[in-house]
Amino acid sequence: MNQERETVLSGMRPTGRLHLGNLLGALDNWVKMQDQYRCFFPVVDWHALTTGYEDTAELRENIYQMVVDWLSAGLDPKKCVIFRQSHVKEHAELHLLLSMITPLAWLERVPTYKEQLRELQGREIATYGFLGYPVLMAADILVYKATKVPVGEDQLPHLELTREIVRRFNYLYKPVFPEPQALLNRVTLLPGLDGRKMSKSYGNQIDLSATPEEVKAKVESMITDPARIKKSDPGHPDVCAVFQYRKIFMPRTIGETEEACRGAKVGCVQCKRELAKALVDFLAPITERRRQVEAQPGLVEDVLRDGAARAREVASQTLAEVRDVMGI
Ligand code: TRP
Repeated sequence: MNQERETVLSGMRPTGRLHLGNLLGALDNWVKMQDQYRCFFPVVDWHALTTGYEDTAELRENIYQMVVDWLSAGLDPKKCVIFRQSHVKEHAELHLLLSMITPLAWLERVPTYKEQLRELQGREIATYGFLGYPVLMAADILVYKATKVPVGEDQLPHLELTREIVRRFNYLYKPVFPEPQALLNRVTLLPGLDGRKMSKSYGNQIDLSATPEEVKAKVESMITDPARIKKSDPGHPDVCAVFQYRKIFMPRTIGETEEACRGAKVGCVQCKRELAKALVDFLAPITERRRQVEAQPGLVEDVLRDGAARAREVASQTLAEVRDVMGI
């Protein structure tokens, strides 16, 4: 790995199988970055515990499925470091040390903290661990002295807090850490099949691991213009989820598509059939890589073990430096 390149770190919570929204919103960016930067991509399983500590039965399976999706999408363990956060204990030690210097008030005012407390009512997440979520995230980033952090907009407050912790640490001890910058993911906002945000909890997603038959069935279930009952009714592409998808996956013919819809020349059934074919073609290389990944038993475990070893090499050096300047 070339030391000259800037260091990138980003993580995902192990939610299991990923969907097209995850691919366009994040993973595709990671795949591009692995050629330009020195990249660390942890599965942040400790972060999963901050809200999901009660039921951990599926955690291992979810980690496995997500890493299979990462590899199928084109992340290459030769080009980037893929590992489990909990395999590299230095994240935990740095989290502990940073927690000593992080004022409670900084954590209490993080907007995601207040929001989630409200949204996840019924689950007891007013815990010490959950409050410390952004400190753990800061540790993930800083333990590799990453300077670029690709994230979605929702993570910006966490990045800001990381930068504040860096300034405080560098001021109190010695300038050990660079201030990391957020790299906002190029957002191709892919709506769910029903027009709402694509999310597993709504069941409106297309998984990266979907078979051609599943893709067809999903596309058939998509919501089109509710005012268009018969094929002879003129359609309104701007309110149609199928049209939003065609903009992204069939951009070359989008002008004709719009005309045919407004002019009631092509019906929704045909329009969906064409989209399903485009999506199946789009997913084909991912499906093919998945076949290769799944044909190698033990591959995911090997990738994670090797990744943890490479991550630890860097992380342990940072921790030695941190302990030294903190007098520990
Ligand atoms: N909080 C991030 C999310 O929910 C996941 C995450 C954990 C992360 N540690 C990170 C992202 C470090 C970027 C860098 O999406």
